[in-house]
Amino acid sequence: MKKLNLIFLGPPGAGKGTVAKDVVERYGVPHISTGDMLRDAVSAGSELGKKVQSVMESGQLVSDELLFNLVKDRLSKNDCTNGFILDGFPRNVNQAEDLDKILKELELSLTAVIFLDVSEDEVVKRISNRRVCPKCSRVYNLISLKPKKDTQCDDDGTPLIQREDDKAETVRKRYQIYIDKTSPLIRLYRDRNQIITIDASGTVDKVDEIVFNTLEELRQD
Ligand code: AP5
Repeated sequence: MKKLNLIFLGPPGAGKGTVAKDVVERYGVPHISTGDMLRDAVSAGSELGKKVQSVMESGQLVSDELLFNLVKDRLSKNDCTNGFILDGFPRNVNQAEDLDKILKELELSLTAVIFLDVSEDEVVKRISNRRVCPKCSRVYNLISLKPKKDTQCDDDGTPLIQREDDKAETVRKRYQIYIDKTSPLIRLYRDRNQIITIDASGTVDKVDEIVFNTLEELRQD
């Protein structure tokens, strides 16, 4: 069986985190979301968090150097030897080159890049309806993944909030940064024959089904 050393690539709000959590449940590989790691640092008020808070809230990208160290440390952990999902990294061509260096140093290789393809209209709709629990970080959607009770977390009853960078104006900026900086990675990984494009416009169950089938094929290769 091949290991699942994966990158999940796609526009903000495509559903990378949502699918990744379901893949983690099925295959037990760690989900390495640079967005979650940075948000945790902000919540904890750490040095890193203080450095990145305003950049994140404005929808800009954090420096490549910070990301290099963060990802290298995380991929060096033992739990990554049997697979991993990188979600939100790499985010530009320079970070893709950094990842090449990190993987080489750690003697790891990439199995595939899963590109979640969704239209701009759909991601704007998904993001504007996303709500998160500030306590446990569980992600909801007011249309597609409603909490059981009003706008409270099912797990701990905490009132749900909107991410600071999910405000309409910032979302448009994030999408433009995705087009300018991140979407060139589609071509880069296509040229390397590593990208698999998934139609991620359907329901969560539908997208999960396509991704699970794809991963099964990859494991058998
Ligand atoms: P990050 O957290 O990585 O944000 P993102 O890439 O913009 O991705 P999102 O978390 O917005 O979306 P997602 O695709 O995970 O969607 P989700 O599953 O939640 O980064 C945030 C910031 O951190 C960046 O702007 C930057 O500042 C910094 N950063 C992070 N990494 C960095 C890096 N490498 N370099 C530099 N800076 C970095 O789904 C969205 C919503 O839709 C949810 O409500 C969900 O319930 C719903 N949904 C999901 N799937 C479906 C579906 N199939 N149908 C209907 N609804 C769905």
